[in-house]
Amino acid sequence: MPAVAIIGAQWGDEGKGKVVDLFTEEAEMVARYAGGANAGHTLYLGNTKVVMRLVPSGVLRPGVKCVLGQGMVVDPLALDQELRELLAHGRDAGGDILVSERAHLVLPYHKVVDELREKDPGLSIGTTKRGIGPAYEDKVGRRGIQAQTIRYPGQFRAAVDRARKAWAPTVAALGGELASVEAMLEPLQGALDRLLPMLGDASRAVNDALKAGKRVLLEGAQGTLLDVDHGTYPFVTSSSSTAGGACTGLGLGPRKIRRVVGVTKAYTTRVGGGPFPTELNDAIGQRIRANGGEFGSVTGRPRRCGWLDLPALRYAAQVNGMDGLALTKLDVLTGFSELRVCVAYDTPEGRTLDLPDLGEGFQGTPVYVSLPGWSSPISGARRLEDLPPEARRYLDFIEEQIDLPFDLISVGPHREETIIKVAPFPS
Ligand code: IMP
Repeated sequence: MPAVAIIGAQWGDEGKGKVVDLFTEEAEMVARYAGGANAGHTLYLGNTKVVMRLVPSGVLRPGVKCVLGQGMVVDPLALDQELRELLAHGRDAGGDILVSERAHLVLPYHKVVDELREKDPGLSIGTTKRGIGPAYEDKVGRRGIQAQTIRYPGQFRAAVDRARKAWAPTVAALGGELASVEAMLEPLQGALDRLLPMLGDASRAVNDALKAGKRVLLEGAQGTLLDVDHGTYPFVTSSSSTAGGACTGLGLGPRKIRRVVGVTKAYTTRVGGGPFPTELNDAIGQRIRANGGEFGSVTGRPRRCGWLDLPALRYAAQVNGMDGLALTKLDVLTGFSELRVCVAYDTPEGRTLDLPDLGEGFQGTPVYVSLPGWSSPISGARRLEDLPPEARRYLDFIEEQIDLPFDLISVGPHREETIIKVAPFPS
């Protein structure tokens, strides 16, 4: 039974958590493969809202094994806090979590560097300040600390000491100072002790599950346009958030993925700096933000809002090899008399259906098509036929333009507020 990958098709925050949570009804394992506590999945335990950062969204269903792959960077404190929050809501999830022993750790100095850089206008890109960039720098610089090092406390302490010394000049140049190794490690000890029994071989676990015919979901974090290779560099995160990252980040062969589902909002949002051609810096953008509650689930920052960008979605379909689309937050567009959709770009070289390079030399302007809006609430819709004709027209238009079917359409935050067209796993 090959795996199904759920990938963000935009700049993150597409609502992947809800899609994964729904699909998990049929899954026995959910595995994350990239990023760290920069991600934020808003999930609902009944009416209680919980935000998960590291733990895969499948965690709400007891018995579903949740894997954090080696492509991730894991902050032990953040993981511990999350598990304690779940416990406070009655979900004891520790036994269902496997953390790759090869995942790299996010340690206090990574967060200090990330924060200091964000204070420097010449260096800031609007990160989540969770230490993600510096942790991946250490990893590819071959001086990072893999989670398995905590099995050997002496070696772990020595590695932290080396890393602290390596970062000290950078921190000093940025006007900061690092705490001593002891002062860093002391508050971490409890979290490290609880992390230890969760460590294991993630690649083996995922491959064994697939071999045993289990249904495995691969949960993307961030989105295609934040991918370090395929995103709007340098305004990106530091990991491979696209579908290929699931293979390297979990130790999984590409042919083990049977379906790639790209998740997109019915409009576009972005947090942090960087290009966003369809952004609405006006009352319409503010209205989308207010209707959609578009504030970062990790940082609380207001999200930038804009119209749906179909060239960007076509690009996401291409780089991920998407088989289907999951469209979220359609209900947020209720009440607008007119909806606009970017279908192409005008560039100095002419009109193109492709997403132009949005780097420094970008001179394009979005070409919009205007579609009629709808005014009656749609959160009660459970079938396409229940939607107003204008909402169906909006969906048909996207489907035609992207040439991909919808697997599901989300019409509200709760599990049941969903129109499911294609079940993730064949029965
Ligand atoms: P970092 O991943 O914290 O280094 O941040 C790099 C960029 O990615 C910033 O623009 C962040 O706002 C953005 N980013 C990182 N994680 C997410 C996410 O889960 N959703 C949306 N944006 C994100």
